Amino acid sequence: MSNELIAKINELKDKRGAVILAHNYQLPEVQDIADFTGDSLELSRKAASIEAGVIVFCGVHFMAETAKILSPDKTVLIPDPTAGCPMADMINADGLREFKAKHPGVPVVAYVNTTAEVKAESAICCTSSNAVRVVESIDSDTVLFVPDKSLAAYVASKVSKKVIPYCGFCPTHHRILAQDVLKTKREHPQAVIIAHPECTLDVIKLADGVESTSGMLKYVKNSEAKEFIVCTERGLLHRLTLDNPDKLFYNPSPLNICPNMKKITLEKVMWSLEDIKYEIQLSAEIIDKARHAIEGMIAIRPG
Ligand code: 13P
Ligand code: SF4
Repeated sequence: MSNELIAKINELKDKRGAVILAHNYQLPEVQDIADFTGDSLELSRKAASIEAGVIVFCGVHFMAETAKILSPDKTVLIPDPTAGCPMADMINADGLREFKAKHPGVPVVAYVNTTAEVKAESAICCTSSNAVRVVESIDSDTVLFVPDKSLAAYVASKVSKKVIPYCGFCPTHHRILAQDVLKTKREHPQAVIIAHPECTLDVIKLADGVESTSGMLKYVKNSEAKEFIVCTERGLLHRLTLDNPDKLFYNPSPLNICPNMKKITLEKVMWSLEDIKYEIQLSAEIIDKARHAIEGMIAIRPG
């Protein structure tokens, strides 16, 4: 069945002139049919530069929205419109306006895991791979950072500015407990610990490397080590294992699954191409207001 589905997806992709982008947490079979996989920043850059008229975005809603903001003339499809990000939903435009009112004049850095409305109210965006550089680039001693308090705390530990966090967090990364990481380390004492900055500070403190999802892929490739404890959503293990057949990867938690990322299936990708669904729709006003924050981030040099 899977081979037939893949053949059908490829046929429809040609017919529609579409490109499939997939985040590093997607189901293995979805990553395997994508034209391009990556972290949030890489996918944003790709969406901005792509020539195809149709983008099928296999990820969560804010990622597809970001692609639409950067390519407003393209048709951007998400195969399951209910694939949201609970952290992005922890702040809306009203909540951000209230937060800003408590700290008048302080610029807002919005993690890309936010809705377009929140980006439209922010000075600049960042992803986990460039958050430190983005905050350093701002001409202010103090910044507001929304919505992720864990990424905010990690950034605050790396810069000399005051970072005022909002109270959001990623439920998937917060389920990775320091005690589970320590237990895994006791079982595999020679393993290097790598962590995503959405993890709690307790987990971050145990990590040898703190990276975005694609940052972890590069870290492992460049490392002499042979064993790794991977503190992020378990979808990343697919690429890690494919790219590094000589290395071993340990998952520290039974709970590190993002259910929204797993909503995109091969069937839904096929239906998406067949029916041209579900199209990301944003008003021209929101696109205009949100674009400056994303473009400001993209203009900052890669690390
Ligand atoms: P990356 O940008 O590191 O891929 O992270 C996106 C995300 O949603 C992590 O939970
Ligand atoms: Fe959102 Fe966390 Fe899922 Fe990433 S892993 S999409 S931050 S809920």
